[in-house]
Formats: sequence, C-alpha cells, structure tokens
Amino acid sequence: MKIIKKIDVNEFPEWSSWPQMLLGLGIWKNASRTVGKIEQEYNIEKYGQCLAQFGKGNHSIEEIRAYYDSAIQKKECISLGSSLVIVGGRDFLRTYEKLIVDSVLPEIKDGDAVVELGAGFGYNLHLLSKISKKNVEYLGGEYSRNAVTLAAKVFEGRANISVEHFNFYDEDYAILKKIDRPIVLFTAHAIEQIPDISNMFKVLSKYRKKIRSVVHLEPLYSTDKSTLLGLMRQRYAEVNDYSRNLLPLLEKTSGIKITSVKRDVMGGSPLNPTSVIKWHYR
Ligand SMILES: C[S@@+](CC[C@H](N)C(=O)[O-])C[C@H]1O[C@@H](n2cnc3c(N)ncnc32)[C@H](O)[C@@H]1O
Repeated sequence: MKIIKKIDVNEFPEWSSWPQMLLGLGIWKNASRTVGKIEQEYNIEKYGQCLAQFGKGNHSIEEIRAYYDSAIQKKECISLGSSLVIVGGRDFLRTYEKLIVDSVLPEIKDGDAVVELGAGFGYNLHLLSKISKKNVEYLGGEYSRNAVTLAAKVFEGRANISVEHFNFYDEDYAILKKIDRPIVLFTAHAIEQIPDISNMFKVLSKYRKKIRSVVHLEPLYSTDKSTLLGLMRQRYAEVNDYSRNLLPLLEKTSGIKITSVKRDVMGGSPLNPTSVIKWHYR
C-alpha cells in the first residue's frame, strides 16, 4: 500500500469528525448496540440497499462489494499501528482484503470446513475460496436476512459456498452442529457488533473437538491510556457500544490457547482498527 503522507494526531480532525464528537463539540447520541440496531443499520439499510440494487439480474459479488464500499474516498486517513497515514481508499481496501486472506489461509487444510460468523453476504469467504485448497467447504453465518438472500443469489450453482441465518446470541449454533469436518472458524469486524461476546464462548465450547483453529480480525478494546489516540479509541468503542471483552474472555476461558495477538494492525477507521488474534482449544 502506497503511503501518501504520515500525519500527526493533531491533524486528525481534518479527516474525521470523531475527535469533535468524542469531545462533546459535535452532535452525537451514544448508541446501544442491540439486535434492533443491527436490524436497522445492517439488514434494512446496508444489505437492504444492496438487495434493492442487485436483487434482479446477474451481478458479480465484486460489483456488489464495490457498491457496499462506495462511501470510500479517493484519499483516506487510516491507521497502521499507532501511526496515522493518508493512503488511496481503494488501495486500503485491497490491503485489508489481503490481511484477511493472509491471516486465515495458512490455517486451512485440504478437506476442511471454513466458517465465518457474521459473514455479511460472504465476500470474505469468496476471497478465500478463490485461492482454495482441495475439497474445502465455505460456510457463512449471518444475522441479516437480506445479506443471506443476496448470498443465495450470488453463490447460486456453487456447491461449496453458502451463507445461512445465524445469531451470535443463539443458544446453539446449527451451522456448526451439522459440519463433520475439521473447522477453521473466523470473524471479521462482526464480534465488534456484540458488546458482550460471552455467549459465543459458551456455545463454541460444545464444538471444541471439531474446531481446529480460530482467527479473529476484530478491534480490541484499547487499554492504552498513555496516548491521545489510545484514549480516543477507548471512548469510541464505548460511545458506539462496540465489543469490549473479546481478549479478556479469551485470556480467562480455560482450555483456550492464544497463539498470536497482533494489535491494531490497520484501521480503515483509525479509532476502530483491526487486530488479528489466533487461538485454538487445548
Ligand atoms: C461490519 S459487518 C462485517 C461483515 C463481514 N464480516 C465482512 O467482513 O464484510 C458486521 C456484520 O455482523 C453482522 N451481525 C451483527 N450482529 C450479529 C449477530 N447478533 N449475529 C450474527 N451476525 C451479526 C451484521 O449483520 C454484519 O453483517
């Protein structure tokens, strides 16, 4: 990714209205990230608009994704670790996609099932399936019915890739129950939508024998109180009611071995950067 320039945190308000809002100088109402909010923000707005646009006719998943990402600007302020940099918007998207593929692909072996929870219309699964190992099944679980409908349409005729309805808050995960192969499970900015993710750990442990490896590409709640960026990241997660207990739960759940934590690798939204966490059951 070509870095156009590095900027100081003092220049960040030129690129984002969040510093103003976090300081109470702009209009902002704290969110409560309920299922009702997901229904409105994702099912009705984001995926409903995609479905209205692409529900009829033959469209490629790349076309749909480009529409979904159409708010991206020619130049974007993103974060790399704790640095703020200006890059081309499309350049960033391709680099972020590469991060997903490079993080999940090494975990996949011939004959596995690859499961993404909170998969949207399955774009990440599609990216992985293009560089597939042999005889791999790709399954997505997703709350938003409009995304599931869109996925059924774009993956029609492809036997090894599908997205079905799923809810992180369910008592059991039917998507995992039916799989009889080793599972590589991943999430990408989906757990961020769940303020308290403890239910997922209760349910996953039922399938511990089948789950070989787990990868999260998710924001981790900032514990950095020594920098302005760290403090803004912490407050941003709070006012948006994003997930705050993924890493603490991983660390305290017995029988889990965390193999890698790469914090704040890159952030399309510098206040909500992607960290990459890998773990497995002992
Ligand atoms: C930021 S999007 C990421 C989608 C996809 N992982 C990607 O990388 O393109 C967050 C996704 O989480 C889904 N989601 C939110 N709450 C959920 C829940 N309770 N159960 C399942 N999916 C949920 C949303 O509908 C949305 O598709």
